Amino acid sequence: MSVKVRIEPSGHEFDTAPGETLLEAAVREGFHLPYSCRNGACGTCKGRVLSGTVSHQSYEAKALSEAEKAAGLALFCRALPEGDGPVVIEAREIGVAKDIVIKTLPCRVARMEKLAPDVMRLFLKLPQNERLQYLAGQYIDILLKDGRRRGFSIANSPAADEFLELHIRHVPGGLFSGHVFNVMQERALLRFEGPLGTFFLRGDSEKPVILMAAGTGFAPIKAIVEQSLTEGGKRPLHLYWGARTRADLYLHDLALGWAAAHAHIRYTPVLSRPGSGEAWEGRTGYVQEAVVADWPDLSGFEVYGSGPPRMIEAAKEALAARGLPGPAFYYDAFEYARDVVPSP
Ligand SMILES: Cc1cc2nc3c(=O)[nH]c(=O)nc-3n(C[C@H](O)[C@H](O)[C@H](O)COP(=O)(O)OP(=O)(O)OC[C@H]3O[C@@H](n4cnc5c(N)ncnc54)[C@H](O)[C@@H]3O)c2cc1C
Ligand code: FES
Repeated sequence: MSVKVRIEPSGHEFDTAPGETLLEAAVREGFHLPYSCRNGACGTCKGRVLSGTVSHQSYEAKALSEAEKAAGLALFCRALPEGDGPVVIEAREIGVAKDIVIKTLPCRVARMEKLAPDVMRLFLKLPQNERLQYLAGQYIDILLKDGRRRGFSIANSPAADEFLELHIRHVPGGLFSGHVFNVMQERALLRFEGPLGTFFLRGDSEKPVILMAAGTGFAPIKAIVEQSLTEGGKRPLHLYWGARTRADLYLHDLALGWAAAHAHIRYTPVLSRPGSGEAWEGRTGYVQEAVVADWPDLSGFEVYGSGPPRMIEAAKEALAARGLPGPAFYYDAFEYARDVVPSP
């Protein structure tokens, strides 16, 4: 049954199709609600149900607590309308250019480059005459043959759109990353859906920006920095990149080069396990700890974070304790795929 949904305060309306979540229906109708994992794990899509009833597909308790649910909050990526009455939700819509269209496309792996023992860089070539319009920071879902999907951030700026660049970390036992490291060869064909997500630099503010990446969380941040350089932006950008060892800062020289060439860009690498065999005179510890140690008052900043969920969770608390307003923390938590294999 189709149900009418209204978004407040914009007043935008759309209908859900049977079995569709509120987020799926909104995105299909071109309304941009904030989201990231679409799996009920990260909490980015959380908003209030003002009237009507919804039920939830499975989700993780860290994304929506029982108390929040009782107070009328919902995860729109997992919420289905219940009954046939209209549903009214409160959500912050995001202004996104009209030419961002989610497509399903084939692509060819044009080049593979091992950036670190467990990080592979892929350059994907789209079919001739196809271009993907996206915002720096967004991701794509690689569509596997059996219907599973895996999310990876696009690591290059849309201005350099001949290839799509991905940075793939080899997850022990990982289905797709294992395939990339052990089986896949250059010229392999893949399919993907994208662009997805709402992790991109908001252009409506002049506040200084802290970019906080951990591991391959550097990928979307790289795209954001490159896009900002292409546009000639002069907004202060301070990049913190956390990794275990020096080898895991797999494009360290690139980041050093940005900071050397541009007065408005600063770069602070942070190692959590520098190891005794390596000469490292830089910062140590976790990346979010370095940010809060440097900035006791974050009330005038915007922070963009991407990387493992545990880093994002730790950062939320640490940044709020330094006065960063909740809406000024934008993040992509690299949640693991929850496999849903569509029935044939
Ligand atoms: C919005 C978004 C953007 C992302 N961008 C990137 C990116 O640019 N680069 C990147 O490397 N990853 C990224 N990820 C994470 C990536 O999608 C997952 O790690 C994915 O599950 C890897 O697929 P796989 O098939 O190799 O492993 P799977 O088959 O999904 O995982 C196998 C097992 O390993 C566990 N696992 C999966 N991932 C991890 C992990 N990261 N750490 C520890 N255990 C894990 C799972 O619990 C599972 O049991 C992103 C995720 C999201 C949601
Ligand atoms: S919990 Fe809904 S997008 Fe992550």
